[in-house]
Amino acid sequence: MTSSLCIKQEDLLYKPRNIALAKMNNISGEPEMSEFESAYLCGLINKFKPKKILEVGVAGGATTGIIIETLQETRDRSENIKIFSVDLNSDFYRNKTEDREKRKTGFMTDIMKNSSDVWVDHSLLLGKTLCECFEEIDHDIDFVVIDTVHLLPGEILDIPVLLKLVSNNAVIVFHDVSLHHFLSEPKESRKSFATMAAFVSLSGNKNVPIGLDPIRKFPNIAAIQLTENSSKDVSDIFYAMNFPWSYVPPLKIKEAYLQFYDKYYRKYQSIYENAFLENTAYAVHEREVNFETVFSKLLSKLTANQTVSLYGAGEIAEYLVKELSKRKVPIDRIFVTKSSRYEQFVGKFPVEQFSQDLVTKDDVIIVASIKFAKEITNYIKEKVGNITVLSVNEFSYI
Ligand SMILES: C[S@@+](CC[C@H](N)C(=O)[O-])C[C@H]1O[C@@H](n2cnc3c(N)ncnc32)[C@H](O)[C@@H]1O
Repeated sequence: MTSSLCIKQEDLLYKPRNIALAKMNNISGEPEMSEFESAYLCGLINKFKPKKILEVGVAGGATTGIIIETLQETRDRSENIKIFSVDLNSDFYRNKTEDREKRKTGFMTDIMKNSSDVWVDHSLLLGKTLCECFEEIDHDIDFVVIDTVHLLPGEILDIPVLLKLVSNNAVIVFHDVSLHHFLSEPKESRKSFATMAAFVSLSGNKNVPIGLDPIRKFPNIAAIQLTENSSKDVSDIFYAMNFPWSYVPPLKIKEAYLQFYDKYYRKYQSIYENAFLENTAYAVHEREVNFETVFSKLLSKLTANQTVSLYGAGEIAEYLVKELSKRKVPIDRIFVTKSSRYEQFVGKFPVEQFSQDLVTKDDVIIVASIKFAKEITNYIKEKVGNITVLSVNEFSYI
């Protein structure tokens, strides 16, 4: 691949977008890039001549079609070029509830493939995150375009995964690095700086096409060409996970990344795990999550035949005491590590300092803490031995 990421006005490639859109029944709002941003992306593809491209975040698939058009116009069939497109949602995320026709993610690329001779080998991987499709993607990707959530943790989570998929000196294009400044977007977009955070934290040769975008002084698209330091400096990406998150991914996704980092980034995995707990605890504290949904799985495990004790005396314990009482599940005790730090009662139950003398192996203890669930579980097991300990983290959707 060419080594310079310097992109000039004459490198911008505007034509593929118009040709591709004509083949895909132009849909309002798609692609989700401006003409300039598409031209920058196509210009980079034309300049670097990648053989394996990964696209993360597909939406209608208009940008996929534009990438395919660029390749078909500038390259040869014999090069066996491949594109992998990944999207978490199988259904087009901009479908409206009132829409009669539920469009699939990538539907515009399908229109293009059905109506013209597309020889580029394109795989669409839907319904999974990048780390869940890791094994389905070739591992010598030389060009990536990432355009997904924009809210933290969003794109940050995928950068360590990308680094295990790409070849040396791969080019990574980041879309929506300025979305947080768009006055036309809903207020929530002010928090849409995950792409910029990922761009800043990943080490490499960077290009922001300042001076080329006819509208934005600091454009909304940028690129990095990886260097040998990119993987060495991966700690910065994990440190960036410590910013406050705007959402907490569901348990399935949490676990998928945890397993991935555990396998490939053992040294940094705990930073992710801690960030997850801190942000979950905050979301619970601020009631940004629905307690009924979060704790329904745990509560469904408990019956009136069991007597349970709770370890924790905060808002989660308060909620569980109310719910368990409604379900007529007997509560024995409320434990904490140091009772002086807490109110003396949760409901009608006194808060007591935990001691192994107060429990037997037949008791069930629910750990009502998000941040310290692991430590408390280990502590109880160490003190009492083989006792049933249910942690809210294991059962909640978070
Ligand atoms: C801004 S749109 C992509 C626009 C597209 N690149 C274009 O230029 O038209 C974001 C897409 O990312 C998808 N998405 C959201 N979270 C994701 C994740 N964690 N991994 C992969 N895709 C995700 C959404 O379903 C949505 O289709």
